[in-house]
Amino acid sequence: MEFADIVMSRYATKKFDTRKVPETKIRELLELVRFAPSAMNLQPWKIKVITDQKVKEQLKPAAFGQEQITTCSHLLVFCADPDYDRLIRRLGVLLKTHGVPEEVHTMVTGMAVQFTGGMSPDQKFAWSQAQTYLALGNALNGAKALGFDSCPMGGFDPKEFTRILNIPPPLVPVMLCPVGYAADKPMPKVRFATEEIIF
Ligand SMILES: Cc1cc2nc3c(=O)[nH]c(=O)nc-3n(C[C@H](O)[C@H](O)[C@H](O)COP(=O)(O)O)c2cc1C
Repeated sequence: MEFADIVMSRYATKKFDTRKVPETKIRELLELVRFAPSAMNLQPWKIKVITDQKVKEQLKPAAFGQEQITTCSHLLVFCADPDYDRLIRRLGVLLKTHGVPEEVHTMVTGMAVQFTGGMSPDQKFAWSQAQTYLALGNALNGAKALGFDSCPMGGFDPKEFTRILNIPPPLVPVMLCPVGYAADKPMPKVRFATEEIIF
């Protein structure tokens, strides 16, 4: 499928038909997520993949009873990671193992330390959250490209999800991405004209 067709045919699926997406396809999807861009390449996200139906049933009330939670094949819980000390150290190690010259990785991690050093905890969280949304974008279009459907979902209680899934701090669940095969039909696309969004 052309990228334009993927973008135009992807839609926020409200109900899936409970068929399982093969694990190989989920791995491919996670590869697409993994290659998302991020500021200074810090990749401040983690994803919890839920397949257990009992766990999905437990989570459903914490997502306002939305049916995608229990009818999807896999539920991807996108968590923002705001721990920049650890993220920067981790990137330093990764750059080293990729043979990036010492002076380059010292410069990159130094810039990151300087940039994040002045941020409040709220700013760090907001920055991580924004980038986690970019990774989610890859998952949404990626699912369509791989032959299945998805829904971006912000309608859930992050505290309840953290409790039920035992998500360790400092990770914060910020978006859900149930994936599977749609059991509904897309609504017509309703979007503002290009002239409305450029100025
Ligand atoms: C941040 C965000 C939160 C959303 N939360 C939900 C949600 O909780 N439940 C849902 O069914 N759709 C949710 N959506 C999907 C939007 O309603 C949908 O993308 C929008 O209406 C456009 O429709 P389309 O994606 O089908 O083109 C969310 C989308 C975004 C980007």
